[in-house]
Amino acid sequence: MRSAGYEVALFPGDGTGPEVLREGRKVLDALGEGDRAPWHLTEYAGGGRYYLETGREVEPEALAAAHAADAILLGAVGWPGATLPNGDLAGGALVLGLRQSLDLYANVRPCRLYEGVTHRISNAYQNVWAPKNVDMVIIRENTEDLYAPLRGRLKRADETELTVDTRVITRKGAERVIRYAFELAERRPKGAPADGVKRVTCVDKSNVMEGCRFFRETFDRIGQAEFPGIERDYAYVDAFTQWIIRQPEQYDVVVATNMMGDIITDLASVLQGGMGFAAGGNIGSNHAMFEPVHGSAPKHAGQNVVNPFATFGAVEMLLRWLGERHGDAKMVGQADRLERAIASVLKAGTARTYDQGGKVPTSEAGDRVAEAVRGIAA
Ligand code: IPM
Ligand code: MN
Repeated sequence: MRSAGYEVALFPGDGTGPEVLREGRKVLDALGEGDRAPWHLTEYAGGGRYYLETGREVEPEALAAAHAADAILLGAVGWPGATLPNGDLAGGALVLGLRQSLDLYANVRPCRLYEGVTHRISNAYQNVWAPKNVDMVIIRENTEDLYAPLRGRLKRADETELTVDTRVITRKGAERVIRYAFELAERRPKGAPADGVKRVTCVDKSNVMEGCRFFRETFDRIGQAEFPGIERDYAYVDAFTQWIIRQPEQYDVVVATNMMGDIITDLASVLQGGMGFAAGGNIGSNHAMFEPVHGSAPKHAGQNVVNPFATFGAVEMLLRWLGERHGDAKMVGQADRLERAIASVLKAGTARTYDQGGKVPTSEAGDRVAEAVRGIAA
């Protein structure tokens, strides 16, 4: 933290990214009114569209600013036709690149259904998908596995003959993300909705893959030695995809390797009302980047219709992370304030965007949350 406060680098990125980040700023401004904003926001360009226009995904100065910032807030990247010469996603420098270069090893994705939010699962049976039953956090390893940039394509006479992606699971990578998951389970006050038990579920495919066997061994070793008070639970990823829908109330904290975590967090978002509510934090030892997980949604871009609540969730996570990291109770208080504002607006149902069957524009949903923030004492 500098004398001017926490420096937060904003990357609106592509598509609907700028629209949702604008609402995130609006809410931060409301939180900060009356001299209560110990943060300073700076926006930087970058992304797929920027690449098409300039030939660069992001300027080196902007990347340097991201490295120097106290925290990063990212909108979304990805634009039709924007690919690098090697086929990679243009704009990926902001997501995958920063995850690697800042060593943001834990991707933290809360999945909580707020009161007043509807989802598309039929609720005829035992009210299993009620808000009281959906409150978990999925922790996804964020630096290795199939995302490790060790891959290749073999061409002969211009024909692709062979492609290889390697699945890398290291001791360091597994240990630190697993420890992160157990520590989070220790801090979470309520445990799993079903029984109040503090539980970490290891999701893997250890009946088939060596890396998964090692991940599960590491999970057991660390859990047993360092967190004897936390229940250890196991699921093969294929079975997990049905259990998370059938009995979400059993889950408290879930930990998974990178690619499986990518898949199960999109699935889990259905339980929280859709990707419009899915916020994520990419957390390292010294840096963190927060983002709505929904992506750039090019077909909705510029229409002021998408759901900004994932961004509000990301802002809340950002404030809480800064507060906890710097022992700054005021920042934690601001995160709590935003959480209460989000919950109250969702409960009132006054900010339902199209994905919630409503007609409220993105900007008005932001207005509602900003008003609610003003109504809650700091
Ligand atoms: C996510 C996204 C990214 C990923 C994409 C945009 C590269 O799907 O954050 O979940 O695969 O990690
Ligand atoms: Mn994803």
